[in-house]
Amino acid sequence: MCGIVGYIGPREAYPIIIEGLKRLEYRGYDSAGIALFDGKDLKVCKTKGKVVDLENKLLNEISNSGSIGIGHTRWATHGVPNDVNSHPHHSNSGNLVIIHNGIIENYDSLKKELSSRGYTFKSDTDTEVLVNLIEDVKSKENVKLGKAVQIALNQVIGAYAIAVFDKTQPNEIIIARLGSPLAIGVGKDEFFIASDASPFIEYTKNAIYLEDEEMAIIRLNKDIKVRKIKDDSLVDPYVQELQINLEQIEKGGFKHFMLKEIYEQPKAINDTYRGRLLREDAIIKMSGVEDNMKKFLAADRIIIVACGTSWHAGLVAEYIFEDLARIPVEVEYASEFRYRNPIITEKDVIIAISQSGETADTLAAIKLAKSKGAFVFGVCNVVGSSIARETDAGAYTHAGPEIGVASTKAFTTQITVLTLIALRLARAKGTISSSDFRHHLLELEMIPKKVEKALESDAHIKKIADIYKDSRNCLYLGRGYNFPVALEGALKLKEISYIHAEGYPAAEMKHGPIALIDENMPIVVIATKKGHYEKVVSNIQEIKARKGKIIGIVTEGDVDVRELADHVIEVPETLEALSPLLTTIPLQLLSYHIAVSLGKNVDQPRNLAKSVTVE
Ligand code: F6R
Repeated sequence: MCGIVGYIGPREAYPIIIEGLKRLEYRGYDSAGIALFDGKDLKVCKTKGKVVDLENKLLNEISNSGSIGIGHTRWATHGVPNDVNSHPHHSNSGNLVIIHNGIIENYDSLKKELSSRGYTFKSDTDTEVLVNLIEDVKSKENVKLGKAVQIALNQVIGAYAIAVFDKTQPNEIIIARLGSPLAIGVGKDEFFIASDASPFIEYTKNAIYLEDEEMAIIRLNKDIKVRKIKDDSLVDPYVQELQINLEQIEKGGFKHFMLKEIYEQPKAINDTYRGRLLREDAIIKMSGVEDNMKKFLAADRIIIVACGTSWHAGLVAEYIFEDLARIPVEVEYASEFRYRNPIITEKDVIIAISQSGETADTLAAIKLAKSKGAFVFGVCNVVGSSIARETDAGAYTHAGPEIGVASTKAFTTQITVLTLIALRLARAKGTISSSDFRHHLLELEMIPKKVEKALESDAHIKKIADIYKDSRNCLYLGRGYNFPVALEGALKLKEISYIHAEGYPAAEMKHGPIALIDENMPIVVIATKKGHYEKVVSNIQEIKARKGKIIGIVTEGDVDVRELADHVIEVPETLEALSPLLTTIPLQLLSYHIAVSLGKNVDQPRNLAKSVTVE
């Protein structure tokens, strides 16, 4: 978590860093800070709150900001969000400043050691320990900043992306990464540093993504030197051409990124299957699957590892893989899987799902599975992310940047990729007939249009949201393919409106949650025609008998649920396996409108961050 930005070159650093931090705020927004060198003095300013608070604090103070600087937007780990714990952090001499994304696990022992030698600390952070460790090494060993950073990092246990500046060597910034992303934008006589490429895409399309255990010495008017932190060997960095553009990371007339991303789903789903689903030839072409077909077909089982919304997509995939391809599937929270000594063999295929491709627990689960000899396939959105690089093969979702913290288009595009894989494997295994396969392809191709249709209920959903916005609790029920959708609907409501919500398999309601139902409890029930419809209707009867308020997500033209429910929201008809791609849409909109009418910060909900790079 946390966003890092830096600049060194002929331009004024301040506007680049401030704008860059705003783009990285999805990574954390507890506090923000900046360090600027104007050629003579080092100015550091930091504050609890958002980047805009930092900007206001600096108003009238920045005349000549200089052309070197680093900035940070924080998601707190060690130490509460306040001004003192905000980054950048100074070393005791005041010469060094650092910004950091990650956790230094052995900071306590390092701090004790440094304290015993007279170092003092103003903040509660692990980061302030690191900058003093670097200073200590620098003076003890009498080395330059780059060397000091390298020696210090070899004493550190944990994860980091850092940028360090020394006002006594003011023509360079040192950066390093282990477990947290860092990109360098390479311009003409200038360099940009950022946690992802969004802060510099209008300046350069050339980027270097540092690998784990690499550091870079970035000097004004000089070439970048990339080195291995462990053995100091030089690395020839790969300069990649960026594919994203400015429009993709702006709101484009929508009030929030979340709403924009909900509305982008027809295109995003289309982009996901474009070039892969060849309906006329009745084939699915995915090189990552094709190249590893033997491993998929020989697999005893598929284990899916993921977190949060991506885990919900994994649950949907469990139904799809087992139903269509008849391969046993287990879906694991990456954070549990990695610590419970799981039984993994070389005949297991692991599918890791992650929008950001940076989630620490998912990454650790992948490493564990690889160490046991399993084949690991990644489903990621962010191109070149750590998970995309760590997996043996994979398929990108091609959803485009997802900036709203609550995941929306990532979920539906993950399901799309996983459906394509399941269908491809089903065909290869002969568990689906040729006509059924063609039917699925045809229906999948129609999904973007049907999502557009589902989006037409937006105004109706807003009215329902206004009725239930003051509820304290909410239940979401679904069966089969739509049980994970119920979980996802509840998660969306919780995370952006702070209303307590639970997702349950509809039939489980009788085993406990039914006790919660009274006339104040809204219950969202997914009751589409093809998924155990009669059984869900019976569940709705049970809710009605207890006076619960029913919001039914139904298939167009539904009559039965309409008679029973307080409100219905229609979605177009499709195959049962594809229904989550449609039933999810009203649930996203419902949570969005409730959060907006409650005045919540939809794109930056409290305590959350877009990419969870700490465990
Ligand atoms: C919920 C949400 C999170 C993420 C989770 C995994 O809206 O965004 O639950 O799904 O943190 O993130 P990724 O997919 O980046 O691994």
